[in-house]
Amino acid sequence: MSEITPIHVRHGSSIGQPLTRRDGMLKVTGSAEYAADHHPPGMLHAVMAVSSIARGRVASMNLAAAKAHPSVVEVMTPANAPKLARHPDVAGEPFVYRLDLLQDDRVRYANQPIAVVIAETLEAAVEGAALLEPAYETEPARVELGDAEAFEPQTVGPGFPARLGTGDVAAGLDAATHRIEAVYETSAQYHNAMEPHAVVAAWDGDTLHLDTPSQGVAIAQMRIAGLFGIAPENIHIRTPFLGGGFGSKGTVWSPQVLGIMAARLVGRPVKLVTRREQMYGPVGHRAPTRQTLRLGAGADGALTVLDHHTLTASSTFDDFFEPSGSPSHTLYATPALSTTYEAVRLDTGTPFFMRAPGEASGSIALESAIDEMAEACGMDPLAFRLKNYAEVEPLSGKPFSSKALRECYAQGAARFGWASRPRAPRQMRDAAGRLIGWGMGSALFPALMFQAEARAELRADGSGSVEIGAIDMGQGSWTALAQIAADSLGIDIAQVTFRMGSSGLPNGGIAGGSAHTATAGVAIHNAGARVIAALADLATSDEQSLLFGAGNAGVIAREGRLLRRDDESRGESYASILARAGRQSIEARAESAADPVSNEHYAMYSHGAVFCEAVVDPDLGQVRVSRLVGAFAAGRVINPRLVESQYLGGMIWGVSFALHECAVLDPRSGRVMNANFGEYHVPVNADVPALEAILVAEEDPHVNPLGIKGVGEIGITGTAGAVANAVWHATGVRVRRFPITPDKVMGE
Ligand code: MOS
Repeated sequence: MSEITPIHVRHGSSIGQPLTRRDGMLKVTGSAEYAADHHPPGMLHAVMAVSSIARGRVASMNLAAAKAHPSVVEVMTPANAPKLARHPDVAGEPFVYRLDLLQDDRVRYANQPIAVVIAETLEAAVEGAALLEPAYETEPARVELGDAEAFEPQTVGPGFPARLGTGDVAAGLDAATHRIEAVYETSAQYHNAMEPHAVVAAWDGDTLHLDTPSQGVAIAQMRIAGLFGIAPENIHIRTPFLGGGFGSKGTVWSPQVLGIMAARLVGRPVKLVTRREQMYGPVGHRAPTRQTLRLGAGADGALTVLDHHTLTASSTFDDFFEPSGSPSHTLYATPALSTTYEAVRLDTGTPFFMRAPGEASGSIALESAIDEMAEACGMDPLAFRLKNYAEVEPLSGKPFSSKALRECYAQGAARFGWASRPRAPRQMRDAAGRLIGWGMGSALFPALMFQAEARAELRADGSGSVEIGAIDMGQGSWTALAQIAADSLGIDIAQVTFRMGSSGLPNGGIAGGSAHTATAGVAIHNAGARVIAALADLATSDEQSLLFGAGNAGVIAREGRLLRRDDESRGESYASILARAGRQSIEARAESAADPVSNEHYAMYSHGAVFCEAVVDPDLGQVRVSRLVGAFAAGRVINPRLVESQYLGGMIWGVSFALHECAVLDPRSGRVMNANFGEYHVPVNADVPALEAILVAEEDPHVNPLGIKGVGEIGITGTAGAVANAVWHATGVRVRRFPITPDKVMGE
């Protein structure tokens, strides 16, 4: 990365502008094409039949009835499913998870695919699936945290150690004047993107054309290539728009592969769209947790210990463990710190990365516990956090951007009016007699970066193009990355042809971990810088150029011209440099990756603080969030309009986590009882009336050459705890089982 320093490039003409979405018009007019909008000639419709039991085997299905349907073409079952090159239970590599691809009659969770009906019309495929009427041999389902024996997982999340800590927990508890021990429970949650997982698959010999939403095209190619025994480059994926991903589209799940298998079986293109209720099982979810926090503080309110134990669940057949302890590693300074895990195996689909995996579920528990600790110490929750926030990352000792966090606390508190908060609960009411409470939470998310590659080109007419297989799942990559592309070439954004969202382009890495703008953006920045460097070489070595000999002083690229850094009146247009050199274009490719040296020396995080006002009906226990203010510092802001939108989206998810989202599993059947948008509650406009996100300025020279940190997931952290703490401040009732529903507020 040090090879391409930004010295040749000037930023500022596109980066930082609040541009509206370049794909906005396509989306609001319905002309943006999502995967399921494609209908290649001869296409058939496939519908999955899914299991209504959670554990056992399929004893029989009425294949004859389904096949007798006049528009049903084929029914795919374990008896006739195409042979795979690799068994779908062979996993073990990063992002390779075990799949259910009709290899046998076993049922490992409710809504597991058990057959696929392929028909001329969607209606016929739906009807054919209903006609199968499967019979089962049923075994008792285990779907609750108490239903199976707990064990200690080897790693959690994407490979974090299951045991981390420093200092002596027992000594920390002994040394404490004030102690709390509390158990917090979070529910199973499902991603519920507006666009369900879908695929339109067309085989052409051993070449495969796919329209399918993906947060990481190269990962999808690798997985599919392995299953079908074909070369990854023979798999052409188009994924220009995603109707949400939230992690669940970070890998390829069974429904997409079944669509591909169906296309191979019938020798025609096939479309398979996961039905809403089928999203509750085979495509990942956030596992439930039971978290025990033990905190101690001295008489002065300084933490002496933080002990965070998480019990969570994975499926019976694969490993993903929600890493809820993560926030406790980073936010607060304490001489004794411990995070540990246990897990059980349940008859559910495999859990997966879901927006702020670990950070969200862990943050609501940690921020609630911090609030309880502040109260035990008789301190204001903000004063307590200011006393205890970590100046250096507690486990590594690396310096933190603690100045940014302090700034978030200060700006958020001032805007909210926190200073006039009475310390005791149940002190404020509105005109209707409803209780009002104010709560806060600290927000934090790691500033990650993955690997990507981009290609940039300048043409003789002064226009440019930039290509990268990047992903827009709603966050605004089409716009933000094009802004970076324009500045990387030093031309107007209208002069740039920007391509992304398909597999034929340079690998854009994964859109996840709130790292996509940094990852793809730095690759673009580097590719553009290389083009400009080559152009500068042409000009500065050409005696006929005004830039001749400027090589050592350096040049600036701006508005389609190169200028001498030491004398900006001397310059030349790109078009003229290229024309004299007889070049039609200059192109370059470049990569991005996290800088190991910086990462060794600095702790890299986005920071924030969230303040919430909740209104609680004392007779009904109904909770309303009436006001929410978040202040976030996340390095350089590429597009303030999009960044604010990301913060607000995260904060809404935080409200959702605290008050709404909950998958209810029936312990008898093992099925999710509210597998629909009617009963799986997410906030609507009326649930989030007054939201405000403050963009706190921060320059972090260490994270990457563009100074970009993530803004996608941090809004959930902090917010969920702030809501819970506001409910306590309103009512004096500490609800520790989330979501906070009226029954719990009224004292379950
Ligand atoms: Mo996300 S859970 O980083 O897509």
